[in-house]
Amino acid sequence: MIPFIDLHAQQKLIRDKIDRRINEVLKHGQYILGPEVRELEDRLCSFTGSKYVLCCSSGTDALLLSLLGLKIKPGEGVIVPAFTFASSAEVMPLLGAIPIFIDVKRDTFNIDPTKLSDSLQTAKDIGINVKGIMTVGLFGQPAEMDFINEFAKNNNLWVLDDAAQSFGGIYKNKIVGNLSEAAATSFFPAKPLGCYGDGGAVFTNDREIYEIAKSSHIHGMGKKRYEYDRIGMNARMSTIQAAILLEKLEIFPEEFKKRQIVAHNYNKNLNSLDLGIELPKVNKNFKSSWAQYTILLPENINRDKLQEHLKSKKIPTAVYYPIPLNEHKPYNKYPVSKGGLDVTYYLSKNVLSLPMHPYLKEDDIIYISDNIKNFIKNN
Ligand SMILES: Cc1ncc(COP(=O)(O)O)c(C=O)c1O
Repeated sequence: MIPFIDLHAQQKLIRDKIDRRINEVLKHGQYILGPEVRELEDRLCSFTGSKYVLCCSSGTDALLLSLLGLKIKPGEGVIVPAFTFASSAEVMPLLGAIPIFIDVKRDTFNIDPTKLSDSLQTAKDIGINVKGIMTVGLFGQPAEMDFINEFAKNNNLWVLDDAAQSFGGIYKNKIVGNLSEAAATSFFPAKPLGCYGDGGAVFTNDREIYEIAKSSHIHGMGKKRYEYDRIGMNARMSTIQAAILLEKLEIFPEEFKKRQIVAHNYNKNLNSLDLGIELPKVNKNFKSSWAQYTILLPENINRDKLQEHLKSKKIPTAVYYPIPLNEHKPYNKYPVSKGGLDVTYYLSKNVLSLPMHPYLKEDDIIYISDNIKNFIKNN
């Protein structure tokens, strides 16, 4: 089977360095909040240009901590795409806040900024006080931040970027983590920068957001150890994960370049005007970190059958995401922006994610592309 994500190829390259880093942690024994966590936070600040970085236990916790830092209150609303992973929206009801689902764009899979006014109006019409917008850099490409930030400023809203998939992505010479009031990323193993367990980070240039998130991730700790300023949680990063990430961050820029080449090779080999395959679009002045390479199949193609066929050829695929978030039981009571979610529904039916990692060879890409094209030609 061609690996969907090849973590072994990466590990082979840096195994000695990772072993050494883990051994250092075993030697000093500070398994929680050890010096590697601080070192990683410093390195992530320099890498992204973000003033403050807080490492934590997962991408979902990073979103939750960011919302706490942004002081969201029960009953307040946050605009969020319906075409995303559950974490983006789930953190809102956990704090009593209300997700308002907005549609995305067909070619970039990201929030459609032209629909923001409708979303805000939808919320106002039913008496919800909207406080912010959650952008999601789906599949690796940042959202259209200038437009969204401007809209937010004009309407007194903040922007929280769910950068779980877009860590390393670039928007007009700025790196993700530094494009809005706050951002949250995930270091889940399959992510562009992944550890060997769960991990995440909050990025912000705002000291207060950072301080609240920092206190909240250790049970709401105050200035002294057993003094509490607020209700918090346990969302600390394990030192061993930080040690692993320090080595992975070293090779991240090289892997980022390799991912651009893999995406380019897919674009080249799948580009076939007559077959109706829609390729992912990266906007001018943007760079995707290519967490996923996702295509849109022609409507007449049976996606399940194509997946089965590809599996028989040892090509794994995935569908991110088969059901719009607002259709799931826990979310179906929350408002959908007027204008609806036509694109979200269309994408849910027709997207297909292909194997994607920095070490994917061009021969494999040709093999995958040929198999997809042949299936479409013959069906
Ligand atoms: C868009 C998005 N947001 C949030 C998360 C949550 O990250 P984690 O799994 O580290 O909690 C993920 C992870 O899959 C994601 O894809």
